[in-house]
Amino acid sequence: MARLAGTVATADIDYHTLDAPRLSDADYDAIKQRLRAIEELFPDLAAADSPTRRVGAAPSEGFGKVRHARPMLSLENAFAAQHVAAFVGRIRNFLNLPADAPLWFTAEPKIDGLSLSLRYERGDLVQAATRGDGTTGENVTANALTIADIPRRLTGAPDLIEVRGEVYMAHDDFARLNASGTDRVFANPRNAAAGSLRQLDAQVTRRRPLRFFAYGWGELSAPLADTQSGAVARLAALGFPVNPLTSVAASLDQMLAAWADIEQRRATLGYDIDGVVYKLDDLALQARLGFRSTTPRWALAHKFPAELAWTRLDRIEIQVGRTGALSPVARLAPVTVGGVVVSNATLHNEDYIAGRDSRGSLIREGRDIREGDWVQIYRAGDVIPKIADVDPARRPAGALPFAFPTRCPDCGSDAIREPGDSVRRCTGGLACPAQAVERLRHFVSRNAFDIEGLGTRQVEAFWSAGWLREPADIFTLARDHEGDLRAAEGWGDKSVANLLAAIEDRRAIPLARLIFALGIRHVGEVAAAVLARHFGSWPAFLAAVDGAGAEPATHAPDDRTRRAALAASPCWAELSSIDGIGPVLVRELVTAFQQPGERALIDRLIAQLDIQPDAGPVQADTAIAGLTIVFTGTLERMTRAEAKARAEAMGARVAGSVSAKTDIVVAGPGAGSKAKKAADLGVRVIDEDEWLAIATG
Ligand code: IVH
Repeated sequence: MARLAGTVATADIDYHTLDAPRLSDADYDAIKQRLRAIEELFPDLAAADSPTRRVGAAPSEGFGKVRHARPMLSLENAFAAQHVAAFVGRIRNFLNLPADAPLWFTAEPKIDGLSLSLRYERGDLVQAATRGDGTTGENVTANALTIADIPRRLTGAPDLIEVRGEVYMAHDDFARLNASGTDRVFANPRNAAAGSLRQLDAQVTRRRPLRFFAYGWGELSAPLADTQSGAVARLAALGFPVNPLTSVAASLDQMLAAWADIEQRRATLGYDIDGVVYKLDDLALQARLGFRSTTPRWALAHKFPAELAWTRLDRIEIQVGRTGALSPVARLAPVTVGGVVVSNATLHNEDYIAGRDSRGSLIREGRDIREGDWVQIYRAGDVIPKIADVDPARRPAGALPFAFPTRCPDCGSDAIREPGDSVRRCTGGLACPAQAVERLRHFVSRNAFDIEGLGTRQVEAFWSAGWLREPADIFTLARDHEGDLRAAEGWGDKSVANLLAAIEDRRAIPLARLIFALGIRHVGEVAAAVLARHFGSWPAFLAAVDGAGAEPATHAPDDRTRRAALAASPCWAELSSIDGIGPVLVRELVTAFQQPGERALIDRLIAQLDIQPDAGPVQADTAIAGLTIVFTGTLERMTRAEAKARAEAMGARVAGSVSAKTDIVVAGPGAGSKAKKAADLGVRVIDEDEWLAIATG
């Protein structure tokens, strides 16, 4: 089977990618047919990446999905030197290092392209995948094989190695591509690189001048080196292009000097970079620091200042969001900022327009923003462009201060501002069409239910037709409106069948997507994933949210009252103890579930679904995977933060208080009531030595 699979894989590359077949079609078909026949007889032996599964998929089905063996993470951003200092300080605290202990960091350009993970097995490039959502990406192997910078074979590499880096397009290649007129015009090199790599036809990718810089790795069968810089040097020795501006800094000053040096060369590099990435050089220390939910603790992206441009603000429009927030948006005369054409910018809220911040202090020296004004736009990375300033000297005569509406522009309900809230909200609730439609749009969006064929346009149309009022209605469309749908303009039997099948397909929904899809204020994608990971199942999550009851007096001025209040409300305490889940989020979450209308809507939805429990962390085969651990007392050889991170990385949950659900209590010297409670409950109590044996074992 391995021999046949190898022959087919080589023939596929020769044919599809290199345009140079060496087998006749008949021979190819016969070999592939034989492989398929054996796989059908012995399905357990069929390789997950067998060419019978890989190729032959009709291009219109898009790319296959690849689950990353190690997640592809993003980076924490910093915009100022003091953020970099804080980053270094946090690392010292976490590792309990004195301020004068030497600490080395690599500094390298942050390439403005898209990341790619290249998997080599026994030296052969077997798979290339985009980042996707970090857990699952797209299989772009055929496309990656056309990029000259990417070696197809490695010699002297570990048996298994995933090389990660950035695909990008150089400025001159980008200009030539846009000028050639053979393809569509791209807004900037990054879009061009992304559009070129994610081509269903690898022949199109081949004609695009894509490049690659390696800067990291995923799964490895053997370590590359002891340091980040050593590992990158090893990647270079294996034949990967690595960025020549990479250096090692021995202090905060040297890090900032490297940043300034790279920024100064930025204009002459010939490709886009948007900052400098610092990475702790010592890989053993990197491993101790580990990861937060989506970013490593040992790396930081220090961004370059945002790009600026002046343009005219034509109109201020108010959009009503899914939580009822009235958001002002500036419609601008189109202007290019940092290579991207911008025609909208956010204006945040009414105070921002009036020239005040949320505390009432003046911003822009109190200058307000009016329709017709000349405004300065700034854009940092991918974030929505913002308005930095306004030029009162160019204000048209007769321009009036902007009157922020006090009624919802969509449903006419009162729009009110709670004391202390900077945002004005429509009080129409689900009766407000804008809110309901926004919630439905959010519900079907890419990182939520992601139902193929049910996008913004369809949601709006189904809403107007009265078929869709709330998420549960999506799952009763087939029962209640199949006939209506077939009769609707633009819908045929096939498209209706496809849509209904896509909806059926999504009844089975991963817990994290469901929690995110509910659209509760502050519960974004990351928080939803954290909650799903913590509770594991919908019933466990619901029990915690329902059991939370009224908010305990966590605002009490003294620690003791605060702790007592939390202790009296174990569910509240559990929710608030989750890393990454703040008090404001807990409040919003609990309140949402306590509102009868909202709760009924959630219950109706849940009745339609088959909720898949969270599969747990990738690394689940550890001694403490799935267990709940509480740390108490002083730890002497590891900071509390490191112990917590380590336990979570090994698949355990870390809780703040002891309950019958606790599996292990790690008690250091000075442990008080928690250790006692554990003993009363019969929970296993271990000391720091035993914990270290588990953590390093
Ligand atoms: S390291 C675990 N190094 O920036 C750390 N990323 O904002 C993973 N990027 O998704 C990334 N240049 O696509 C790293 N020198 C560099 C980079 C770099 C560009 C991208 C990468 C990542 C994104 C995070």
